[in-house]
Amino acid sequence: MSNKMWGGRFSERPDEIMEEINVSIDVDRHLFAQDIAASKAHAAMLASQGIITGSDAKNIGKGLDTILSEIGKGGFTFKRALEDIHMNVESRLSELIGPAAGRLHTARSRNDQVATDFRLYVRDVLDETDAALAAFQASLVNRALEHAATVMPGFTHLQTAQPVTFGHHLLAYVEMAARDRGRFQDARKRLNESPLGAAALAGTSFPIDRHATAKALGFDRPMANSLDAVSDRDFVLETLSAASICAVHMSRFAEEIVIWTSPLVGLIRLSDKFTTGSSIMPQKRNPDAAELVRAKTGRVIGALNGLLIVMKGLPLAYQKDMQEDKQGAMEGFAALSLAIRAMTGMVRDLVPDEAKMKAAAGEGYATATDLADWLVRTLKMPFRDAHHVTGRIVAKAAEGGVALHELPLKDMQAVEPRITKDVLGVLSVESSVKSRTSFGGTAPKNVASQAKAWAKRLEKERKSG
Ligand code: ARG
Repeated sequence: MSNKMWGGRFSERPDEIMEEINVSIDVDRHLFAQDIAASKAHAAMLASQGIITGSDAKNIGKGLDTILSEIGKGGFTFKRALEDIHMNVESRLSELIGPAAGRLHTARSRNDQVATDFRLYVRDVLDETDAALAAFQASLVNRALEHAATVMPGFTHLQTAQPVTFGHHLLAYVEMAARDRGRFQDARKRLNESPLGAAALAGTSFPIDRHATAKALGFDRPMANSLDAVSDRDFVLETLSAASICAVHMSRFAEEIVIWTSPLVGLIRLSDKFTTGSSIMPQKRNPDAAELVRAKTGRVIGALNGLLIVMKGLPLAYQKDMQEDKQGAMEGFAALSLAIRAMTGMVRDLVPDEAKMKAAAGEGYATATDLADWLVRTLKMPFRDAHHVTGRIVAKAAEGGVALHELPLKDMQAVEPRITKDVLGVLSVESSVKSRTSFGGTAPKNVASQAKAWAKRLEKERKSG
């Protein structure tokens, strides 16, 4: 027998390979809740517009509720021969309520159905991602408050550059996460319009109320152009773009954790909960979670690239190619969600080695800029000259194999006679970070107040939540 949902003009069954390439139920079954919600809104609207009877709409609604609970309980059999979630649900509905089920598909098409379902799905993803990022920020802020004054080396080119505080470093990721959240919230605003009622592509001759279904599904308004409504997937692309940027942030942080936990560096220790052992080398503590966060980024960016490539040559309106929009996106979203949650866990219980951080912060003449700044401030030297003088002093310290603050004053004075013992006050790593009080700088006072401000902001958000 040919397909019972669309097989009217067909006499032969599809080839097995046709079925195999066409079927999407393994992926779009994840849209069951959205599909049922959209169908319920559609049926209620059809009744209130007098397009179907109230009693048919009631039976349809009840039948859909039954299907929702069957699927929720795992008692629903998804049939590959029925291709997709829409036809699986409708076919079960007709088993449950008989011919009235056939009225549900009045004034709609699977094209506006799937576009609606996937918008609702991605909207949930956006909301969940926002909540996960808020939790990530909260764990960073907690640790930043605790470590507002913990000195660590700051790096450029992965070379020790200037001392910073660990809290300051963590707050950098809070800022990145805030921008990520902004991008997701922004995507949500543009996504939140309803394609339902666009029908196959041209709209419908039935007197439907698209504003009513849009409202029932929590959309801000119906999409204004039926061709656009069924044929664009920019809401997925935009979400995947934001997800890719966010995943890159997670990946950079993960890479830092991998570096910091290397025994060669040893700035932090991850908890046992986020570390694995080696089956052959008993001494190993591998940062697998961080490595996998780094790798999962590939899935997210891959999903974005994949869908851009699917979409790039498609004429309006719906093309079956677009069925390929879901699998990669769903996997990409799941990968990002796991990455955010893993980073949150690692941040929550990592232990910095404060003594080692402080020692490392002073290595490599990290306070050389402080010396140069002292020369500018106290001796009114132009910065370029101060840079040169400092360079010669650093060379002397290197020759003697000592840190800058350990170099005898007379050796400094041999380079620049006007240097006084006052200079020693700026050469320690603590006084270096303390002096960086410019807005956004690393001074512990700044960091503590920024962390407190963030804590307040996140708390307020949670309450209004
Ligand atoms: N499974 C399809 C998809 O995900 C649903 C829409 C099918 N529309 C159609 N005209 N065949 O895109």
